[in-house]
Amino acid sequence: MTPYETLQSTLRTNPRTWLVTGVAGFIGSNLLETLLMLDQRVVGLDNFATGHQYNLDEVRSLVSADQWARFQFIEGDIRKLDDCRRACEGVDYVLHQAALGSVPRSLDDPITSNATNIDGFLNMLVAARDAGVQSFTYAASSSTYGDHPGLPKVEEVIGKPLSPYAVTKYVNELYADVFARSYGFATIGLRYFNVFGKRQDPNGAYAAVIPKWTAAMIQGDDVFINGDGETSRDFCFIENTVQANLLAATTLDPAARNQVYNVAVGDRTTLNQLFSALQQALVDNGIDYRKLAVKRDFRNGDVRHSQADIGKATGLLGYEPQFDIQVGINVAMPWYVQSLISE
Ligand SMILES: NC(=O)c1ccc[n+]([C@@H]2O[C@H](COP(=O)([O-])OP(=O)(O)OC[C@H]3O[C@@H](n4cnc5c(N)ncnc54)[C@H](O)[C@@H]3O)[C@@H](O)[C@H]2O)c1
Repeated sequence: MTPYETLQSTLRTNPRTWLVTGVAGFIGSNLLETLLMLDQRVVGLDNFATGHQYNLDEVRSLVSADQWARFQFIEGDIRKLDDCRRACEGVDYVLHQAALGSVPRSLDDPITSNATNIDGFLNMLVAARDAGVQSFTYAASSSTYGDHPGLPKVEEVIGKPLSPYAVTKYVNELYADVFARSYGFATIGLRYFNVFGKRQDPNGAYAAVIPKWTAAMIQGDDVFINGDGETSRDFCFIENTVQANLLAATTLDPAARNQVYNVAVGDRTTLNQLFSALQQALVDNGIDYRKLAVKRDFRNGDVRHSQADIGKATGLLGYEPQFDIQVGINVAMPWYVQSLISE
């Protein structure tokens, strides 16, 4: 059995209480689904800034009535300390996902990104510490590597941030580290690298590349590539990200706590390759998109290449990603086709 399989069977027989912030969002709702499937008790906190009630409704439709009854939703805002305190009551593990994502959003409105991602983060740290939770696992970001050109990315070597968003995610790491050192509080940061999968929002100006392109292709619209298409990313399927969260939250190894980890696959795919892979996956799902991608200027704040060294998460957490980008796209595509065609 893999460490994750062992953990899943332990949790099934020994249910715990988890707080998932940002539970109505993409990653949060996938964490919720897995935890409920494992018969865990889950508290969810969200203010629907970018998350949706229909994500929660979809999870409800996928789990049993008994499993759904173990979920308590709090509509609240991490910028309010009282909401954070209420959510942390009686919780064993915090999985803090709530934030305003997107580099361009943070360039357009750095003040709101800062308030949510830094003030909100600090509120959650204080509330979780005071509630005596066992661990605080949070969504960090590969954007912290900034302008450092080295590949693959190793946790200890970072550059200068290229956007306000990247600043906020780096400040999260600094606060988490200080809380670990000053209060002996168990914090673990997971630097996600371009996560994708079902329930990732395809709509709006700040949508991520995979859902945005997939939606455009399904609707027969133009697909825009920022730059020459040779920009590359380590695309990580959501199930790998969920696995990393559960392993990180429950680790009892002192050496594994107060750390940050790359969460990715350790692979690199260019935007040109991604375009072809999505096109092919759509053909497999009965949709023939024949337009060529439209190239336009590089986007401000974007890093050129991103690829993770996942050795630290593998070694210390027992993380073993089960889905490469191709398998992930194959799993996710029917969901996109079904949900976008029925819109
Ligand atoms: N998706 C990725 O590729 C990726 C990569 C790196 C890091 N991350 C981080 O992972 C986390 C989850 O991202 P996601 O892709 O699921 O985004 P998402 O926008 O789908 O989810 C974020 C959730 O947080 C909620 N939220 C925002 N502000 C809030 C507030 N003030 N109070 C309460 N809830 C609030 C939103 O309503 C939403 O449901 C974020 O911290 C993001 O920065 C994501």
